[in-house]
Amino acid sequence: MTGGNGHHPQDLRHFLADFEASHPDEVVRVTAPVDLDYDATAVTFAYEKAGSPVLIFENVAGSRFPVLANLFGRRSRYAAALGCAPGELIERWGNLDAAPIKPRRVETGPVLDVVLTGAEVDLGRLPIMRHFLEDGGAYLTNTIVVAQDPETGVRNASFHRMQVNGPTRLGTSLHSRRHLWNYARKARAMGLGELPVAVVIGCHPLFTFGAGLWKGPIGTDEYDVAGGFFGAPLEVVAGVTGPVDVPAQAEIVLEGRLLLDADEDEGPFGEFTGYASERSTRHAIEVTGILHRGDAYYHTIIPGISDEHTLLLGVSQEARQLKALRVQYPAVTAVHYPKSGTCLLHAYVSVKDPAPGEARNIAAAAIGDNLSVKLVVVVDDDVDVYDEQQVLWAVCTRFQADTDLDVIRHAMGAILDPSNDNGTTAKLIIDATCKTRPYAQRHTLPGASTEKARSLVRPRG
Ligand SMILES: Cc1cc2nc3c(=O)[nH]c(=O)nc-3n(C[C@H](O)[C@H](O)[C@H](O)COP(=O)(O)O)c2cc1C
Repeated sequence: MTGGNGHHPQDLRHFLADFEASHPDEVVRVTAPVDLDYDATAVTFAYEKAGSPVLIFENVAGSRFPVLANLFGRRSRYAAALGCAPGELIERWGNLDAAPIKPRRVETGPVLDVVLTGAEVDLGRLPIMRHFLEDGGAYLTNTIVVAQDPETGVRNASFHRMQVNGPTRLGTSLHSRRHLWNYARKARAMGLGELPVAVVIGCHPLFTFGAGLWKGPIGTDEYDVAGGFFGAPLEVVAGVTGPVDVPAQAEIVLEGRLLLDADEDEGPFGEFTGYASERSTRHAIEVTGILHRGDAYYHTIIPGISDEHTLLLGVSQEARQLKALRVQYPAVTAVHYPKSGTCLLHAYVSVKDPAPGEARNIAAAAIGDNLSVKLVVVVDDDVDVYDEQQVLWAVCTRFQADTDLDVIRHAMGAILDPSNDNGTTAKLIIDATCKTRPYAQRHTLPGASTEKARSLVRPRG
């Protein structure tokens, strides 16, 4: 099946072409030559202040691969991938994993246009960049690692940063202690020294969302979840040098073995916290195959406290946590992970007419539900949690620090937060809801005057 423009609905270029047609101002081609190191990071950070468009670097140090960056730097692109308005994004996302669909194995696909094995495997063929002065080396960032549970064969897909340590060698980090980390521990307990992996670099955003970012039960196959996001089976081809099936429409795939006892040098790396992070599990991957489209994009994620690295963390967790909180607390109306909290460590939660004490329960649940969260501000639903000024106004006018604040000490936290203590951290709850009802009256205007103002005042610019 191909899309109207000749591309398959599960490929990245299909999405890009459609997005550029509907949002021409949000895609910028950088034709000037840029260096392999630092330039793309600096250009992307500069463009963040100019609307954060998608960037296609057409000449990175003379590489044959155009470099695609900042695809995930604005919510409008997430909404476009899901086919909804930006305001509907979080609710829509939360429902997409309800009906997983099993993948479909096909004979061949464009990812097999070029197959490099044995002595042909050389990571130097790819425009792998150094992003920050403090980084330990050149890093792959848009790397979705697909691995299988060593016991059950269930597939997990998750992002892991990768430092180039040789033509076939990558140092990697499983610091978020999620499912791949659990697979690795299980494999070691079974006496295995390695796990086969396929690393997907560049794919349709719905694969990124449904497989790479999805955090659900460990027993759920994430290719099935990706199928649920597509509303159709994910098309896969058999791996060439390993047993892991790979998405047929991917731009680039690295095949290899995750070495469980490597103790490999890896880091520092400029992380989403805004700091160079040394903390790593020091795993390694030995690359056995490189598969790519003939005209592949090298799709990268500009790391650090960039719009896209932080939003990727935030949007997926807003959707997941909103749904999780509502199971016990249907009055929860919205969850926002603001950029000021790196889109991961701070959560703003709104609730409609909470019962006495309910805001505290909700805040505690939000903390328990996502180990990275260290501050929760709960507000009433007249406050827009996406508008930080409104949230801080609620703190200013509805919160007293002696009665409306709680601290949970020595809890497990985000390991990359440089202020934590060996992985543990304090968690702060701020209840900025109105504790008495009725509360002080907000000032209001008659509807007719608001309407008149709308017709009189034209937006500038
Ligand atoms: C851009 C990006 C980079 C990431 N890098 C890492 C990493 O280097 N190591 C890690 O353990 N987690 C990293 N993560 C987090 C995990 O990939 C993420 O928590 C994932 O959803 C885990 O999936 P799982 O719950 O199915 O295991 C990264 C996430 C993003 C969005």
